[in-house]
Amino acid sequence: MTTKVSVSGSLRNRLVIILTGGAAFLAVILYVAVRLLAAQVAQQGQDNILNASMSSVLDTAVLRDGRVALDFPYSALSMLTTDADDRVYYAIYEEENLLSGYQWLVSPSADASDGTRFESMAFEGDQLRVATGARTLIGPNGPRRVFVSIAQTQDALSETLNASTRNVALLGVGFFLMSSAVAIWAASTTSGQMRKLATSVTRRGPQDLSPVSKPVPTEMAPLVGSLNTFMSRLDQTLTRSEDFIAEAAHRIRTPLATVRSHAEATLQRVDREENRKSLQAMVRAIDESSRAAGQLLDHAMVTFRAENLERNEVDLAALLDELVIRMTPAAEMNDITLTTELDRPAVLQGDAILLQNAFRNLIDNALKYAPNETEIIVKVTSAPSFVVSISDEGPGFEDDEVETLSGRFVRGKNMVNKVGSGLGLTIVQEVAAAHGAKLTLTNKPEGGACVTLSF
Ligand SMILES: Nc1ncnc2c1ncn2[C@@H]1O[C@H](COP(=O)(O)OP(=O)(O)O)[C@@H](O)[C@H]1O
Ligand SMILES: [Mg+2]
Repeated sequence: MTTKVSVSGSLRNRLVIILTGGAAFLAVILYVAVRLLAAQVAQQGQDNILNASMSSVLDTAVLRDGRVALDFPYSALSMLTTDADDRVYYAIYEEENLLSGYQWLVSPSADASDGTRFESMAFEGDQLRVATGARTLIGPNGPRRVFVSIAQTQDALSETLNASTRNVALLGVGFFLMSSAVAIWAASTTSGQMRKLATSVTRRGPQDLSPVSKPVPTEMAPLVGSLNTFMSRLDQTLTRSEDFIAEAAHRIRTPLATVRSHAEATLQRVDREENRKSLQAMVRAIDESSRAAGQLLDHAMVTFRAENLERNEVDLAALLDELVIRMTPAAEMNDITLTTELDRPAVLQGDAILLQNAFRNLIDNALKYAPNETEIIVKVTSAPSFVVSISDEGPGFEDDEVETLSGRFVRGKNMVNKVGSGLGLTIVQEVAAAHGAKLTLTNKPEGGACVTLSF
């Protein structure tokens, strides 16, 4: 029997989400960091070449007749050649005067120091990188400052950068996929431990309340600890109630038996008819109570066992054989013949004690309600499924009572003179339900009751 458990999310899914979320975040950081680094390295490369080119031009600056003269070495341009055919611009100033090149490049007054200055600027929709250097030439008319700026578009640089961006993106995705696989694996192994515990508990027989002894991870120890405590408490309670049922049966039946034997003994000695009548009524009442007590306890036992059903191999034929032998003396007292028609073997999984109790109640009813000198047939068929039927030649069931007779304490209205409690068919019904069987009460066409249990 499993009960419904209210569930809120899955630990495994939660773990997977957290771990893959973390992996995605790290992958993005990795991508951004590597891309920034690549951009920096690429820019550094272009700056170095621009610087070399600009210096090689600046180095040729001389004063001739008090005027600045420069050479444009071929290497200064050739070193700037790129795969993407980047365009190159230049500007040469003497102090504030543009000697050659593009006016718009950089204003020389902006920087007076001798170091190289790098700048990025936009020109006609292109990104330009500009390297500017200055040199001071000493002539007869005093010092003259020369400025050289070389600029280059950045097509080749962005191409390299795009290519490396693609690779970095691939790297990030690969990193994410690998981390996700690791995350799923980690989450599965962790939740696998819990599943293992759950299966080991579910696989137990209903009677097995021994503590879980397999080693479990530390985090699960408190749960398993309380589970063990709970099961040992349950075990104690069950044992106690079983003992209680047996004890109660004993305590009720013993004094009743004593009272009955006293009443019977007195009956032998009493002659007055009215006294005999009341003693006989007393014996009957005692029988009735004793039987009711017995049925009540049987019913308690059946309910208890049905909730903790033990399933063992039971041979219905052998079980009924034994039962018929045991009940034959009682049948013979009324000249009733107990006949068996048994398919052998008829083995099913069930609780022998419960099944025996149910069949005993059915044979008991047949003996009780069938007239003397008749036959009761106890039958088992094993194909296509197991069916046990017990039929007699008595009055049978009232049609309008068939539905209600298996209720607690319900007795048929035509059974006035028979000792009974109305619990017999209730017990049979509960045993049938515990075994997944169906109880049917019918009347034979030729008369007489026929009770079947179909498994
Ligand atoms: N073999 C039978 N023939 C006729 N009636 C039966 C038979 N078995 C059971 N009944 C009817 O079903 C009722 C309920 O049966 P049961 O629960 O065994 O109670 P009890 O036998 O104590 O009366 C009986 O009172 C009787 O009316
Ligand atoms: Mg009965």
